[in-house]
Amino acid sequence: MQKKITVIGAGNVGAAAAHWALSRKLGNVVLLDVMEGIPQGKALDLWQAGPLDNFAGTIVGTNDYADTADSDVVIITAGLARKPGMSRDDLLAINVEIVKTCAQEAAKHSPDCVMIVVTNPIDAMVHTAFKVSGLKKEKIIGMAGVLDSARYRTFLADAVGVAPQDVNALVMGIHGDNMVPLVRLANVGGVPITDLLDQEQIDEIVKRTQTGGIEIVNHLKTGSAYFTPGLAAVEMAEAVINDTKRVMPCAVYLEGEFGISGYFLGAPVILGKAGVERILEFEMTDEERAALEKSVEVVSKQMAATGL
Ligand code: 2OP
Repeated sequence: MQKKITVIGAGNVGAAAAHWALSRKLGNVVLLDVMEGIPQGKALDLWQAGPLDNFAGTIVGTNDYADTADSDVVIITAGLARKPGMSRDDLLAINVEIVKTCAQEAAKHSPDCVMIVVTNPIDAMVHTAFKVSGLKKEKIIGMAGVLDSARYRTFLADAVGVAPQDVNALVMGIHGDNMVPLVRLANVGGVPITDLLDQEQIDEIVKRTQTGGIEIVNHLKTGSAYFTPGLAAVEMAEAVINDTKRVMPCAVYLEGEFGISGYFLGAPVILGKAGVERILEFEMTDEERAALEKSVEVVSKQMAATGL
């Protein structure tokens, strides 16, 4: 039987996620938005790409949560995106109300789903979804590390002149300027990047990764990135749907791991049909720990601002 994936929010990120989900043959897709006509129109357009891209599943667009019932995975992308001059935090007050409704309604119709939250500021929005949905912590995951690590890997691969698939690199912590692209663990086919690039090059790449989102916002002017954020969410959904046990950095609820308790923050996890199946904890250096502490400071303020 086909799996069911609901994408909430038919804006750029939601439409991209629906597209990638169909293209990756994850199952049948439901695209939901409060705007009448938008999910229906985009779904119809995507449906008609099926013969050209050999889709295995179908897609419907809707404004009604009843159509999302019994989804295996729900991806929440609804909410405002940044414009130039805005930080992700500027979106919090508006998006918290949007995500509350989406998470509550989606969980009501799909109580066994794994929920992937993409709306910004992601770490606070995944906390919001956790608080209002009633889903267990293993079933609520924030998308951020997969996107940030993809950016990091792209920039490293470009600098070394290798295929990006051969770059292994991890970004932890918050999805914001204080994210932590780990240098010590980044490697190209097992060879440490510190042996392949000089410190100045590495520093530049770390900075560019941390500001990867705003670099795109500044080009677009009317919104933020969507192709890779949509794919990053689908990459996570695929690991859940096909129970692949892939290891990805995701915003997950930490309860003592890395010395942090009570916050959703980016950490490497094993993803499978149960959602977050294990958080892969490892010994950090003092410098890495200090960098992660800055994420905790910011996310604790964001969490307080959600009022939940
Ligand atoms: C980004 O970093 C959308 O926050 C997202 O591009």
